[in-house]
This record gives sequence, structure tokens and C-alpha cells, in this order.
Amino acid sequence: MGKDTPGGPARPVHGGIRPAQLRALGLNPADALDFSASISPLGPPAGLWDALRQVDLTAYPDPECLELREALAQRLETAVDRILVGNGSTELIHLLARAYLSPPPAGCANAVLLLTPTYGEYAGAGALAGAAVLELVARRELGFCWDLAQAGEIIRARRPALVFLCNPNNPTGVYLEQEEVSALAQAVAQVGGLLALDEAYLSFVADSWNSLALLEPGSGVADSVVILRSMTKDYALTGLRLGYSLAGPEITGRLARFQPDWSVNGLAQAAGLVALADTGYLPAARQAVDAAKSYLTAALTALGFGVLPAAANFLLVEVGDGAAWQDRLMRRGIFVRDCASFGLPDCIRIGIRPMPDCQRLAAVMGDVLSTKGHE
Ligand SMILES: Cc1ncc(COP(=O)(O)O)c(C=O)c1O
Repeated sequence: MGKDTPGGPARPVHGGIRPAQLRALGLNPADALDFSASISPLGPPAGLWDALRQVDLTAYPDPECLELREALAQRLETAVDRILVGNGSTELIHLLARAYLSPPPAGCANAVLLLTPTYGEYAGAGALAGAAVLELVARRELGFCWDLAQAGEIIRARRPALVFLCNPNNPTGVYLEQEEVSALAQAVAQVGGLLALDEAYLSFVADSWNSLALLEPGSGVADSVVILRSMTKDYALTGLRLGYSLAGPEITGRLARFQPDWSVNGLAQAAGLVALADTGYLPAARQAVDAAKSYLTAALTALGFGVLPAAANFLLVEVGDGAAWQDRLMRRGIFVRDCASFGLPDCIRIGIRPMPDCQRLAAVMGDVLSTKGHE
């Protein structure tokens, strides 16, 4: 999170390049390489532009995103009434906070529990909704794994209405197994709360388990879990933004009541349909991520940096002074994410880009190291 302002809670800090930064550096957008946002390295699926040209810009988009929900339901083998599409999964995070906090469900406290360090938008949405924001902080010595028994104790003692778990986690790349997430969901269910399982980076995990099993009636937690996914990340639709939630019809309907009509524009809906039809895209993206991640891990380790193992399409890298490294690389046209806002000021997060870009990054980091004073 950034700093609180007199107008309210702090805005979360994000990656991405802002025009003001480029202007200050005198850089053309075309000369900048963005490793600060972690999206598919393949770029948008083929055929996307043709589909976008067919969209009638004079018509309002379908507020129910019916065709896209049908396509998602078919792909995921679930029912249409279990899917809500959002203007990025971030919209859904804010809908959850508005729908389940202030007031919280009966028996729950007006509180959110976060397993940190993690994506800043959960704390931002919780604070905007006037909830207490509780944290269970992962310890680096334990590979950034959380003490899940302690999470259960906090849940039983504080009864938070919402618990956010990012799996795999941004920025640590830790990926919890099915039994661990099920146990957490059971603890949340026992106090009448809701577990929001944010799987924004799931598509890039090599051996993922099927979290939709949590939504099956026999799971015992079906009414206490909502899953969030990001097609922004999956298909590099960063300029359009697209996400969806999966949950029982009651939770889905409740979230939908808080969503403004037309929040998902027609171009994003059309892009989503093209993306889902391209069944070869995600396996190819995963392959490209694996290859570039292995390369970067080896190259940066050889340069003397600490590279943490990550299940997702980014790497957390121990560089000593994250802000200084962000600045050095930025002046060379390369943007990485300084992790101070995650409470990790000695780290940067590097989103996986195509191999030639990763090779350039490693070369530039090597050059910086060999420059006297690292300037
Ligand atoms: C964990 C997590 N969830 C959601 C998002 C946002 O994705 P979207 O563009 O779908 O809102 C991000 C973006 O950085 C993220 O890290």
C-alpha cells in the first residue's frame, strides 16, 4: 500500500509504466521494456484484432456478459450462474469487499484477513469498505510459507467476514496445495465467512490442482469459497482488462447486485471469446514462461542475486536495494517492480517476458554490476 492521504486510505501500489515516468526519463514508450506487470509473454491471441474490429462501438455491451459466461462455463465444465465477469479481477475484489463487509454476515466481524506479503488491492478494498485489515505475515526463513495452523487460530478468534488467499501468491510465488487450501476454507466456513481464492496466476503453474472441486456440493465448503481468475494475465489483455469469479449461485448473485451495469466493455467481452476459442494458447504460454523463468533464474543466480523459486510467471529477486535497482534499470529503459510496498525493500519482482527480453534484462543487470558504483 502507498501512504494514507487526508482523503482516505492509501491507494495500492501496482506495476505498469506510467506516461509521466517515461516523460521524466525522456523515453519513448516503444523503447521501454515492462517487466513490472506479470502477464502472458505471448501477447494477445491471434485473431484478436479482427474480432475487435467487428465490435459495434455504438451499442452498449451486454451487462450480463452472457456469451462469454457461456463460453467459460463450457470450458470450465461449470454452470453459467456460477460465473460473474468483471472489469479485471480487481473489480471483483472490490465487489467482494462491498458485498461482504460493512455490514459483515451475521456472526462475522467487519474484518478481512490477508495472508501477506500479497497483492495490495485486498487491503485497499477492505480499508475502503471500512473493515479492519488483519494480516498473517509469511516468514522468509520458511520460504514465505504461512503458518496455516496460526491462520486457523486467527480465523476462529477474530471471525473475519473475508479471507483473501492469492494462490500462487504475488509476489512470493508460493503455491499452496489442495489440502492446505481446503483446511483454510473449512476454518473460514466454520465462522460463516468467505474465502476469496485469487488465482490470477494459476494458468502459469506447471502442476496445478483443480480448485473448482472446492465448489462441489460434497466439498463441505462450497458456500464459503469464491475463486477469482484473471484473463488480463492469462491472455495479455492488459489494456482491456477482464476477469471472472466462480462461486455458488447465491454468492455470484450477491456480487452481481453490487456491480454497475456495463462495467465490462464490448471489446473486452469480444477479446475474451477469441481467447477462450484458442485452446493452444495457454499451454504455449506456460511453456514460454517455464523456459524464460529457468533461463532468468540461472542467469541472475550466476550474477550473484538470490532468486526465489516461484510457481507463477514472475520471479522475486533479492537485489539488496530494490528501489535503487528499479531506478538503475528504469534509466536504461527496463521497468521492474520494487517490492518495498510488499514489505520487501531488498527485492524486485520480475514478470516473465519473451526470452529475448529476458536475455536483455540479464545482460543489462550484468552491465550495471560491472559499472563502478552501480550507476
Ligand atoms: C493477485 C492479483 N490479482 C488480480 C490482479 C489484477 O488483475 P486484473 O487485471 O484481472 O484486475 C493482479 C494484478 O497485478 C494480481 O497480482
